Amino acid sequence: MKPVKVGVLGLGTVGSGTVNVLQRNADEISRRAGRGIEVSHATARDINKKRACDISNITVLADPNEVVSNADIDIVVELIGGDTLAKELVLKAIDNGKHVVTANKALIAKHGNEIFAAAQAKGVMVAFEAAVAGGIPIIKAIREGLAGNSIEWLAGIINGTGNFILTEMRDKGRDFADVLAEAQALGYAEADPTFDVEGIDAAHKLTILASIAFGIPLQFEAAYTEGISKVSQDDVTYAEELGYRIKHLGISRRTAEGIELRVHPTLIPERRLIANVDGVMNAVLVQGDAVGPTLYYGAGAGADPTASAVVADIVDVVRVLTSDPENRVPHLAFQADALSDIPVLPIEKIETAYYLRMQAEDKPGVLADVTRILGEKEISIEAIIQKEPMPDSDKANIIILTHRVLENNMNKALSEVEALNSIQGEVTRIRVESLG
Ligand code: NDP
Ligand code: HSE
Repeated sequence: MKPVKVGVLGLGTVGSGTVNVLQRNADEISRRAGRGIEVSHATARDINKKRACDISNITVLADPNEVVSNADIDIVVELIGGDTLAKELVLKAIDNGKHVVTANKALIAKHGNEIFAAAQAKGVMVAFEAAVAGGIPIIKAIREGLAGNSIEWLAGIINGTGNFILTEMRDKGRDFADVLAEAQALGYAEADPTFDVEGIDAAHKLTILASIAFGIPLQFEAAYTEGISKVSQDDVTYAEELGYRIKHLGISRRTAEGIELRVHPTLIPERRLIANVDGVMNAVLVQGDAVGPTLYYGAGAGADPTASAVVADIVDVVRVLTSDPENRVPHLAFQADALSDIPVLPIEKIETAYYLRMQAEDKPGVLADVTRILGEKEISIEAIIQKEPMPDSDKANIIILTHRVLENNMNKALSEVEALNSIQGEVTRIRVESLG
């Protein structure tokens, strides 16, 4: 089957990230989608600028209208931003019968009602997972995974730039303007960064989340919006002394009177998981009546994380264009005829670090025997402690933390350690994962 042709409008942070992810993971993506995906065209203001992706096989144009009107293009991916030109282009693409994927929250929050109506009339899809919380598939989670719930409330850190600024101020005492400049250099901030620091970007995202959670039309103008620009270093310190963290939250709650829709700096008890979401990471807590609280966490901005969501939307569209309508999403995510035969590893071939605890006779040479055996099996020790025997015992506890080692080597080492006369019983082992 011929590959689906995609036109990417915008080759900045997210546009380049999207081209990179589509190229890097082309094989796996086509095994999931059931068909190849080819970025045939892309657009940028300056077509001569060096890009952070390989555009050697892409026709790069200055005029995005040429892409939305190109009869060969099936999917238009809008990554320009703003809500004037972007709106015009998206409506034109829909009118031309193209499916649209966008990361543009301003566009969806302000003009989504009109855009969705146009798409419905034309029978095309408009997908916008990347518009909220970067790489976290929060729209899919609420719209599909929580479809059985009555959502009671949701609260989220949904602006990566703002969270990055608050974290650097708290952890390193850095100056607000200095951190904002770094967020801009890293590609996290909006073209106009007041959208990030004054809460407008978070309000765009919260507007979208609230509509999906509570089934209400998008109404950005109704959101209460307060930014972080007035949060001082002193506030951060005093909140900390009281056992709180200041986070910039978007909160939406169903009440008897109506829906709360508010974005503002908020003190959260420091023991809450969401209070420990730092840097550019985002997190959204969703409370459903059936499931209870659920928490979604991940990178809220940046090229690859945002591209992850954009590409997932492209795959969704391609599946609709390609597969049998009754099996749109393959049961095992990959098309049945594209499953791979990579073997599942037996535990002996797995590498992890270990915590070991053994009971040993409290006499010279025991520790040396144990470390010699570990050394012979190429097991390197990260830390070791010996605990004095308890009053009612003559055995000391030796606790060892190792670096990563093949399970097979650890098995051999432990059988030798357990065979030592000076070691009593089995060695307790617990695998250590840093999950970094
Ligand atoms: P960038 O500013 O990095 O990229 C914008 C791209 O659009 C550039 O290639 C630019 O061309 C092109 N462009 C801008 N204005 C015009 C115009 N008037 N006509 C034609 N082309 C134009 O933005 P991002 O990639 O950061 O953001 C894109 C979208 O994704 C926005 O809606 C943003 O809110 C959203 N988003 C961004 C995230 C991020 O982490 N950055 C995360 C999630 C969503 P040129 O390069 O030549 O200037
Ligand atoms: N400027 C946005 C942020 C990009 O910092 O969260 C991701 O939507």
